Amino acid sequence: MIDVYKIREDFPILSKKINNTDLIYLDNAATSQTPIQVIDAISDYYKNYNSNIHRGLHSLSVDATNKFEETRLKVKEHFGIAHTHEIIFTSGTTHGINIISSGLEKMISSKDELIVSEMEHHSNIVPWQMLCEKTGSKLKVIPIKDDGTLNIDEYKSLLTPNVKFVFINHVSNTLGIVNPIKEIIDLAHANKSQVLVDGAQGAAHFKINLSELDVDYYVASAHKLCGPTGVGFLYGKSDLLNSLPPYQGGGEMISNVTFNKTEYADLPHKFEAGTPNIAGVIAFGSALDYMNSIGFDNIESYEKTLLDYATESLKKITNLKIYGDIEEKISVISFNVGNHHPSDIGSILDQFGIAVRTGQHCTQPIMDRFNIPGTVRASFSFYNTKSEIDLFVDAVKKASKMLG
Ligand code: ALA
Repeated sequence: MIDVYKIREDFPILSKKINNTDLIYLDNAATSQTPIQVIDAISDYYKNYNSNIHRGLHSLSVDATNKFEETRLKVKEHFGIAHTHEIIFTSGTTHGINIISSGLEKMISSKDELIVSEMEHHSNIVPWQMLCEKTGSKLKVIPIKDDGTLNIDEYKSLLTPNVKFVFINHVSNTLGIVNPIKEIIDLAHANKSQVLVDGAQGAAHFKINLSELDVDYYVASAHKLCGPTGVGFLYGKSDLLNSLPPYQGGGEMISNVTFNKTEYADLPHKFEAGTPNIAGVIAFGSALDYMNSIGFDNIESYEKTLLDYATESLKKITNLKIYGDIEEKISVISFNVGNHHPSDIGSILDQFGIAVRTGQHCTQPIMDRFNIPGTVRASFSFYNTKSEIDLFVDAVKKASKMLG
């Protein structure tokens, strides 16, 4: 069970006033808020052992290296990963995707085909379009149905022998829909295609076991999991990561450098050139500890309660339309009210201290699919309350009235 009012005490920002009223933060799909335990971990690093990692024998460097590597262990345990060397720290999901897309440049030819879905974030579309431009390969798209779910029958028919890769999100950042990811992976593997899953939204809302999923690559960001911005991880199966060239050259990613030939370091260092966001990675470990201390089962069931409550309340508003209103989803609601522009609703909500995201949410193809300019998106976290939802729904009603 969640004691939401006790949990809220851990988040300093939640007692902030916006426009002279209490902040109601419902933009958690863009970034989650940060508990004091994570803020303290960042400050502790700079106050007590700020030092570079993997390259000093002095005590500060050893402390920093140990703490940094502890996070790798925590990621391994939390995500059910077989080996720590299969975890590459990145600056976030987008970085992880770009490591793979750039690595595949020499491994993809004009005969090959790649699959994405119509519900991807731009960060899981554009790098593959760029790869297709460079290699002459073809990008195919799994369409979404009227209810917002993926058309799995169409996916099956797109999975032809030339398809080398499937790039798919675990959970839609715009619709909140949880995709049948295991089925998608198994179908791809039966076709000898590899799968990269964008886990930016999935990782934050329920526990995932990557070994059981048998996914080839999985990418996620710490800042959706109560961690800092500028940190994420890329998981890849060892043999696949070993077959890819490094993304960046530099220090830390080598084992031997001469002007005749440079040899690269083993995993994971081959993909970790330069000084990383050390404090951020360490704080990511604290964020995982924090969320696990609440418990992902508790988080999942509490957020479902909030989602159901908000969905039912919003549906009572005249002319309000929810996109992707299905059972299998996380606590994200995208909606429009009549013909009101989502930005107008969002600006009025801000006057009431309510933070939501409006617009295309980096998913223009979804907007084109539904023939709309954008949506208002409210996304709830385990530190939101039912009374915040009441105030939010009331504010949506007022905004709709004000806009006429
Ligand atoms: N991808 C993030 C969002 O959905 C930023 O808002």
